[in-house]
Parts: sequence; structure tokens; C-alpha cells
Amino acid sequence: MSETVDKIRDILLEKCERHKKNPKYGYYDYWNDHIKPVVKYAVYLAEQYGADVEIVELGALLHDISMPSEYGERSEHHIYSAEMAEKLLTELNYPQDRIGLVRKCVFNHAGRNAHLRDTLEENCVSDADALAHFDRIPSLFCLAYNIHGMSLDEGREYVKERLQGDINGLSERTKLMYKSKLEAIMQNVFVD
Ligand SMILES: [Fe+2]
Repeated sequence: MSETVDKIRDILLEKCERHKKNPKYGYYDYWNDHIKPVVKYAVYLAEQYGADVEIVELGALLHDISMPSEYGERSEHHIYSAEMAEKLLTELNYPQDRIGLVRKCVFNHAGRNAHLRDTLEENCVSDADALAHFDRIPSLFCLAYNIHGMSLDEGREYVKERLQGDINGLSERTKLMYKSKLEAIMQNVFVD
């Protein structure tokens, strides 16, 4: 594991610890509930697909950094997170060409930028982001009901749509790899 990855992980842990104390976001444990599983899937996929593991791990660690940092609009978190990632990695003297690769992973993890993803590393990070949601479904319901204050039906539809969107956004081979698991979850959680 590289020194840069270690330092970035420490920065993330610190930001998530602080965020966890904020009642505005329901004391959300961003590290354990999201970043950690995203990193786990991202590194696994990078190894499976022969991607650059360090770029992918940095991308996964940094992909949402603006959110636990409570910096910028949450709906534009891919922009703010890319900006923060670039700044932090530059301060750590990480090579500029590699910063560009990590930045792309962060900026293009957002569903709306799917058409811009053109590296294996970007797909590993965005696929991992989606897969991690399926390991933490209660958090999505918590977000719908406790943070967004939705009704029972609204929350159900909200979570269902988000998870279906996650499946739709997966790269073809990751979709194939997890197809039966994800379909089983959707069929069993959202019974019509
Ligand atoms: Fe994420």
C-alpha cells in the first residue's frame, strides 16, 4: 500500500469522524457505511480487471470527499470532490499525470457523467459506489425517511429508483458478475 493512499485514508477518516458528530446529517457514519465498502469493491474490481489498483483506491477514497467535508452543494459533489482531490494530492506531491487519472475517477463517478468514463479505473470506482449501496440498504431508507422526511410510499419508491439506477449504471461485466445477487435483492425487498 502506498504512502499516498495511507495519508489520504487518514484525511478521510478524520473528516468522516467530524461529520459523524453533525445532527444535520443524522450522525451519519460516512466511513463505515459508505467509503469503506466502496473501497473494498473498487480494489476487488481493479484486481479482477487488471486496472491500476492505486488509482482506483485513491479514486474510491476520494470520490465523495466533499460530502463528509460538508463542502459545496451535495448535488454537485462530484465537482467539489474532484476539486478537493486534486488539491490534496497536489499537496502530497503526487505525480500530476496520476492526479489527472484520480480526478477523472472522482468527477465521472456521478451517474450523469457516465458517458465521459473512458478508463477501466473510472468504471471500477463508479461500479463500486453502486455495489456498496446494496450492502447498506437500511442507510438509504434512513436517508429517505429521516433526512428527506419522505412518506412510507415516497421513501420506498425513492430507494427502489436509486438502486435500479445503480444497476443500470454498472459497466456490462460488473452487471453480469453481480446480476443474480442484485436481482434477488430487488425482487425480495420491493415486493409488489
Ligand atoms: Fe459514493
